[in-house]
Amino acid sequence: MPYSSHSTSHVQNKVSQIFSIISAYRYRSATIPDRFSEFTPDLKKQLSEAVSCGETVRFILPAFPFKFTAKGDGRKTLGSLPDKAEAFALQTLDGFADSIAETYAGGATVVIVSNVFRENPKIPDADVFAYHQELKSLALSLGLTHLEFVRLGTLVGSDLEEYFDNASKTCNLLDGPLAQAVDLEGNESHATLMPHINDTEAFKPSIFRERKSIIRLSIHESNNVGKITLDLFPPSTNPGFLTPWHCAVAVLADASVRIIDISTVDIAKFEVITNHMGRPWLLREKSDLFDWGLMELDFEPLFPCGMLVRARAGCGPYKFEDVNMNRVRQLALSTAPLLLRGFTMKVEKEVFRNKARELGNIQMWPFGDILEVRENADLSVMNVLTREAMPFHYDGCFKTVKDETTGGWIPTPPLFQMFRNHAASQSKGGLTIFASSRNLIPLLGPDTVPIEELRRLKWKTFTTDKEAFGSTQLLRPFIIPHPETGVDIFRFHEPWPESKCAPGSGVSVHVLVQPPAKGNAISESLTRLMYDRRVAYRHHWKEGDFIFNDNAMTHHTRTAFENGHREHWRVHVN
Ligand SMILES: [Fe+2]
Repeated sequence: MPYSSHSTSHVQNKVSQIFSIISAYRYRSATIPDRFSEFTPDLKKQLSEAVSCGETVRFILPAFPFKFTAKGDGRKTLGSLPDKAEAFALQTLDGFADSIAETYAGGATVVIVSNVFRENPKIPDADVFAYHQELKSLALSLGLTHLEFVRLGTLVGSDLEEYFDNASKTCNLLDGPLAQAVDLEGNESHATLMPHINDTEAFKPSIFRERKSIIRLSIHESNNVGKITLDLFPPSTNPGFLTPWHCAVAVLADASVRIIDISTVDIAKFEVITNHMGRPWLLREKSDLFDWGLMELDFEPLFPCGMLVRARAGCGPYKFEDVNMNRVRQLALSTAPLLLRGFTMKVEKEVFRNKARELGNIQMWPFGDILEVRENADLSVMNVLTREAMPFHYDGCFKTVKDETTGGWIPTPPLFQMFRNHAASQSKGGLTIFASSRNLIPLLGPDTVPIEELRRLKWKTFTTDKEAFGSTQLLRPFIIPHPETGVDIFRFHEPWPESKCAPGSGVSVHVLVQPPAKGNAISESLTRLMYDRRVAYRHHWKEGDFIFNDNAMTHHTRTAFENGHREHWRVHVN
């Protein structure tokens, strides 16, 4: 619906929210000073023009030309076709646009301009063509809805023969204004990748005719004036600021994910893992973590955190009873959440309980060990057993013991949550979102709170008395060592006023800093970070899913759901 009927303040509010998302996603170069503030007035003006008319906010990104060298010593990539690196990059871009669409009804679209025909004679035209076709198929298979692709093929045909016949002629017909629209400064190292094309309105897609309202994105380091530089991967995985056509996704021996240029690693330490079509997909460092005995498994990194374990195509199904829980424990500590899909299990609590015992020590609650997570008005565990949305939290935040040294109360949260899904039939919502400290901590900085400042701060929280927890005022640090591995983890609870939930489920949270407005700003910015698409994995449950989640490394929440039945068994393990 157009926003023209809305007040100026409504438009300004939406512009401000969208601007915050763009600002948070911009990449700050280590060598080029950031001057984004100089671009702010123009950017807000562009956003206001779109929002006041209720139009989609449109971005344009010249990127994804083709896959670079896949052979010989200089090999950077796994092959000439898109792989897991492109999948992650497309998910990053779609997540960026989707987070705008979540706050603004007009939505957002990223238009990817990928076109290098005749510019790189070493790359066969057929490879370039196939790369772009597969890129679009990949976006479709991933269910990404905020991306559009523009290339010569869009203008001159959809099959290879037609492309060859017409692309050369069209290259000479398409116009310079496109190059200006996408290369405002003309000084990028990859400027030659842009189309060199002459004038004809007839061949211009609408995206180029509307270029005044398009916000320019870039994959090159910049000062963020006139265009905004984006990292195409979650920053925690991409210390080298690589682009997917120059690299591969690698799962390292400790199960962490890194974006790497293959020419920089000892390839003998890695296995090339293929996807279900037999195409090179990612690299995996050789490690016992991935040896699960006779089970032939895929270990697929989830976006932007966590890992999916399932039987390789043509293998399985395997019984959950046969899973080595030591491996599960090791892997769950290395990558959270750990999702096992397609494993069978007798629907018996005793089987579930026995496997939990193999994982560690079960934590008991007044209701017992296994909680049936479904609508249930008889148990008082806040809004866990309702259909309403929940705040980001970690389990056991309010389960406390008295610290004999200080006399204060300290939480004793369980280390793992172990879930088995029994029903995921809700038509909409009911997602569980897991936000990992591994992804969040690298995003702390001048736009949020620098980690060193956060180390000095504390937050105060309270919830009313429940059957098993609550009623004590808690004072907690933001950054603490992981109880098992010792690495920094982030701890917080999303503020949840009673106005958002059923009576008694509210949680008050205050950051202890003066003035209070600063505390509120920090609280809001940390909450936004937990929901950031580069931090949080959004899980759509499938019946039979098992999830093993490191409750210390992550926060989690559930989105509201309306219809259908949603049920898991959950047990806490230390
Ligand atoms: Fe929870």
